[in-house]
Amino acid sequence: MYAQLVKSEASAEDPIRLAEFQARIDRGEKIEPKDWMPAGYRKTLIRQIGQHAHSEIVGQLPEGNWITRAPTLERKANLLAKVQDEAGHGLYLYCAAETLGVSRDELFEMLHNGKMKYSSIFNYPTLTWADMGAVGWLVDGAAIMNQVPLQRTSYGPYARAMVRICKEESFHQRQGYHLLLHMMKGSEAQQRMCQDALNRMWFPALMMFGPSDKDSVHSAQSMAWKIKMNTNDELRQKFVDETVRQAEFLGLQIPDDALRWNESTGHYDFSEPDWDEFHDVISGNGPCNHERLEARKSAWNDGAWVREARMAHAMKNSERRLAAAE
Ligand SMILES: [Fe+2]
Ligand SMILES: [Fe+2]
Repeated sequence: MYAQLVKSEASAEDPIRLAEFQARIDRGEKIEPKDWMPAGYRKTLIRQIGQHAHSEIVGQLPEGNWITRAPTLERKANLLAKVQDEAGHGLYLYCAAETLGVSRDELFEMLHNGKMKYSSIFNYPTLTWADMGAVGWLVDGAAIMNQVPLQRTSYGPYARAMVRICKEESFHQRQGYHLLLHMMKGSEAQQRMCQDALNRMWFPALMMFGPSDKDSVHSAQSMAWKIKMNTNDELRQKFVDETVRQAEFLGLQIPDDALRWNESTGHYDFSEPDWDEFHDVISGNGPCNHERLEARKSAWNDGAWVREARMAHAMKNSERRLAAAE
């Protein structure tokens, strides 16, 4: 369906229309679903919002893994609330993507057949309870860094979804940090567990900002369209600068020998993640890619009867309404 839409727009793209569109964005106006937009803008947004939605949904899996093993009732309630929030984020974002003319079935199909990706971080396992702290602190922390600027993005439905999502993400980050803070006051074994979680999660978290600017293919056009507000490297630097101080407060060591404060730049210098590993995980060879995708596919298949029952119920209702009207 949306392939046709994109095709018909591409044929109608005259330079004057494109210039008017760009001028609206430059003036800070929001683009709304029924407004004309270039085919490339629609396509890029569908890819970006779709991948974002998929990341929220797949992102529930590594944490869902620990709900039944949370050490206290309070921690369990926090984690459960957080994982439910992520489901909600996925739903707002699928709705935002649908306003661009793509159906939810099409989005799921693209996730299941590998045409659409989700954040590479969720292809790593969560091995200990401390990982729940590190995920909240680092993964939700990186997500906030990415998402706060997107509240000002040019596409109205996406920008508005981000406002609510960001409020919830900051709770996620804090519950993770609080968990680590608590464990760091505990036994030596608990402290080691926290350090181990940071050691495993640090570089995958840095990868969440995407490839280095010099290798990022979509940046320039997306920034002109205000679909992307900062470059990958800018956000990664901001994340490092804030996180180093938080690690110090926790009493944890960032696993990077090259990390040091640079007086002349006013930022921390740090090692780049292993980009070969990043590309390997993105292309399907991370430790949990297969498991994550299988979990999503079986959830989709197991839910078939619910979708069919809802359709049958809707049909019966409309038949009843028709009969009553006659
Ligand atoms: Fe989220
Ligand atoms: Fe979150």
